[in-house]
Amino acid sequence: MRRKKLFKMAEVLTFENVFRDPTVIFGKWKEFFGNDNDIVLEVGCGRGEYVIGLSEVYPERNFVGLEMKGSRIWPGAKKMLAEERKNVSFINTMVKNVFDFFGEGELSEIWVTFPDPQPKPCRAMKRLISPRHLEMYKKLLKKGGKLHFKTDNTMLFDYGVEVVGADKDFEVEVVEYDLYSTEDRADLAEAKLVQTYYEGKFSALGEKIKYLRAKI
Ligand SMILES: C[S@@+](CC[C@H](N)C(=O)[O-])C[C@H]1O[C@@H](n2cnc3c(N)ncnc32)[C@H](O)[C@@H]1O
Repeated sequence: MRRKKLFKMAEVLTFENVFRDPTVIFGKWKEFFGNDNDIVLEVGCGRGEYVIGLSEVYPERNFVGLEMKGSRIWPGAKKMLAEERKNVSFINTMVKNVFDFFGEGELSEIWVTFPDPQPKPCRAMKRLISPRHLEMYKKLLKKGGKLHFKTDNTMLFDYGVEVVGADKDFEVEVVEYDLYSTEDRADLAEAKLVQTYYEGKFSALGEKIKYLRAKI
């Protein structure tokens, strides 16, 4: 592994807005944020563009980006510290560990942004929008909480529409196969607000961006 990457992976764990040890933060989010505001989680946040972008527009909400690769969150976490942005933080772990960090019903929204498609059927359970993960999201979200899913990948989006639609606990509110061709609608504003690294990459290749939102 390159030295620079190793350095970032190590340094990111020293940042006060990045958590790896759940015992430091479980049950203490209000204390950390200094308020009782809603908490929004982005899973597989990569560079964290979504949580960073939303945290600027919605200072009255708290944002947490969860990402297994520490080097990816390093630039965003460093920038947030430099700007003293207090309503955004990161967790460096795998999504399977999320209950070590949050209790049931602790989140108001979950964003799943451009997850790896895992195209082989035998790897479907690894998709961050699979039934296995939906069970986790349902427990994490409070009543009325929202799940947002953005992708460029048609196979993955069809799969997401199918599994979320089949889940009786979710009420699907929005399914858009070409988000940016929709008219200006208030309920799509947040979905259009931030373009992540992967969104930019696939948009440049001409892929249409898809968006699903469901309520619990
Ligand atoms: C295709 S990238 C998308 C990153 C970002 N959301 C974006 O739109 O640019 C998928 C990200 O999910 C992360 N990831 C994949 N599986 C994960 C898991 N089980 N737990 C945590 N992060 C995961 C990967 O490390 C990667 O950064």
